[in-house]
Amino acid sequence: MTLEEEITELKRQRNAVILAHNYTRPEIQDIADFVGDSLELSRKAAECRAPVIVFCGVRFMAETAKILSPESTVLHPNPSSGCPMADMADPREVEEYREKHPGTLVVAYVNTTAATKTAVDLCCTSGNAEKLIASLPPEQKILFLPDANLGSNLNIKLNRHMDLWPGYCPTHNRIMPEHILAAKEKHPGALVLVHPECLPAVVRLADQALSTGGMLKYVRESAHRAFIIGTEYGILHRMQKENPDKTFYPLEPAVVCPNMKKITLEDVLFCLRDMAPEIELPEDVRRAAKAPIDRMLEALP
Ligand code: 13P
Ligand code: SF4
Repeated sequence: MTLEEEITELKRQRNAVILAHNYTRPEIQDIADFVGDSLELSRKAAECRAPVIVFCGVRFMAETAKILSPESTVLHPNPSSGCPMADMADPREVEEYREKHPGTLVVAYVNTTAATKTAVDLCCTSGNAEKLIASLPPEQKILFLPDANLGSNLNIKLNRHMDLWPGYCPTHNRIMPEHILAAKEKHPGALVLVHPECLPAVVRLADQALSTGGMLKYVRESAHRAFIIGTEYGILHRMQKENPDKTFYPLEPAVVCPNMKKITLEDVLFCLRDMAPEIELPEDVRRAAKAPIDRMLEALP
């Protein structure tokens, strides 16, 4: 039996569902039941009601699945797959900020740990942040965490003055305006799509700044034939598979999130075999972390 066949057999025995983020390795995306962005994966975790969820993505995403689907056993195939940006906001520092700034609404990008989510008012993802922030009264003071690039891009687009936490994604922060300019020169006529975790100077040069799910929808519906993709390289697998008649150019050097790449087929096989490593959260933490996610899902069902 191949590894894929062994996984399929174990998945059937365990009655498990495999969820994978758009940045995971191609072979992981190919064995997944559902591939998506953070928002789509959160929704899927909430509604799938599977006894076992194998979550192929970084840890905060698997935690979100557990928060929304407490009855399921949520397996995270490689526990060392974390998001450095999520670790840049600490709940104690958030509480300290709140004490100093009463009346400020704390909005957290979903790229935060479950512990940090317990200290915030509202969550958002890159797929809904613009709509969510735009729906808040203009006079409302807001702290946006942990991604200062996403926060700056929202401030610019929506003419807001949110306070920004000094966090960043080490992968997207490496994309420089000159990389976009070089790609444009090499591929004239191709549309430039970037992730809003990129620096504002990079977003300014792009045709669109979209979540990974937003990019996939955009290229599917666009009449354009060629695109320069300014986000993690893994997304090109699905883009090319779903749009065989279109051309996608990655930036050079390739943009890679090492943590997303840590999850291998062997990890998936072993976690289904051993039913470990499992995401476990104390019930009080899970409930408190769920509140800002629920507010997000209620605001934008
Ligand atoms: P998406 O929600 O757009 O998939 O983004 C998640 C992420 O971690 C981007 O770096
Ligand atoms: Fe975190 Fe950046 Fe990797 Fe996304 S690409 S999971 S934000 S480190």
